[in-house]
Amino acid sequence: MSAPPRVLVTGASSGIGLATALRLAQPGGAVAVLARGAAGLAVAAKGVRARGARALELRADVTDRAALTAAVDECVADFGGLDVAVVNVGAAAYAPFTDTPPEDFDRVIDVTFRGNVDTIRLVLPHLAATEGSLVVVGSSSADLPLPLMSSYTAAKHAMRGFVDALRIELRSEGLPVSLTLIEPGPVDTPFWGHVASHVGRVPPVLPLSYHPDEVAVAIQRGIASRAPRLTVGGAMVVLRTVHRFARPLTERVMARAATLAADVGEEGSGAGAIWSPSGTGDVTAAGRTRPSALVRSRQLVSAAWSFPARLRG
Ligand SMILES: NC(=O)c1ccc[n+]([C@@H]2O[C@H](COP(=O)([O-])OP(=O)(O)OC[C@H]3O[C@@H](n4cnc5c(N)ncnc54)[C@H](OP(=O)(O)O)[C@@H]3O)[C@@H](O)[C@H]2O)c1
Repeated sequence: MSAPPRVLVTGASSGIGLATALRLAQPGGAVAVLARGAAGLAVAAKGVRARGARALELRADVTDRAALTAAVDECVADFGGLDVAVVNVGAAAYAPFTDTPPEDFDRVIDVTFRGNVDTIRLVLPHLAATEGSLVVVGSSSADLPLPLMSSYTAAKHAMRGFVDALRIELRSEGLPVSLTLIEPGPVDTPFWGHVASHVGRVPPVLPLSYHPDEVAVAIQRGIASRAPRLTVGGAMVVLRTVHRFARPLTERVMARAATLAADVGEEGSGAGAIWSPSGTGDVTAAGRTRPSALVRSRQLVSAAWSFPARLRG
């Protein structure tokens, strides 16, 4: 039986990253959680330890190359290697393109694309050494563009292009690293309240949102199956197909939906997560969603499976 994996999850102080860190924590394993927010990281580390794994808190801004390099080095030195990296950081500005300050636009690209690319550059040699797995969290907005979030949509398009090109390079260079791109539809996380808004309101969590653990399960599946790309949410697969064939109509619907969302969202503005730490250790925002029956039954099986190991200590 193989040893429990040594894992790094970025953007783990909140939402999908936090759910993933908890899901990948196995008795005897090790999980490093990386973000800027100390409070959220402490919650993540506590949850990881409660599941019988070693936890390492890494405070770094992914746009700060020196801090990011030091954090990855610390993780690899502490764990003695790295088997899995989940590259998950994301942040968004919320406004029409013409009202988005250029520095906010650039910062979203820096955080959501360049910061994640830098993380990938740093972890790749360590994953190659262990024939490990790299999982990148993209977004269905690579297919279904989000009005009022053009910089975020652009960053997720860029990420898909980068990941697809990198996968070919890895294969042709014979680097034994699996690379999975996870593309979720809307998820009930604190993300929506973390946007830097320039319209006086923040978008609401969308009615058809999934629970973040659905994404964490897809990440786990990506690691096990070494699948190149997984979409989270059957509705997204349908919408993507409809958008491809009915584009003028779907664009009008998305424009209307964006206006409605902007009208009903809570009042708020400011820097959001793009300029300052945001993670406070919450997996969901609205708390209205529940994991599906499939995810809950997997949770039960995995809790039962790890129970003897937890008893042993
Ligand atoms: N929620 C959705 O509907 C949805 C849908 C599709 C894809 N996604 C993607 O899923 C990923 C996770 O998002 P989420 O929904 O879980 O949002 P979230 O709850 O806001 O979590 C974002 C995480 O990224 C961290 N982060 C942000 N900026 C950072 C920076 N400069 N340096 C280091 N860490 C930073 C945050 O921690 P600190 O602020 O404490 O640093 C937090 O831990 C993102 O890539 C997002 O684009 C989300």
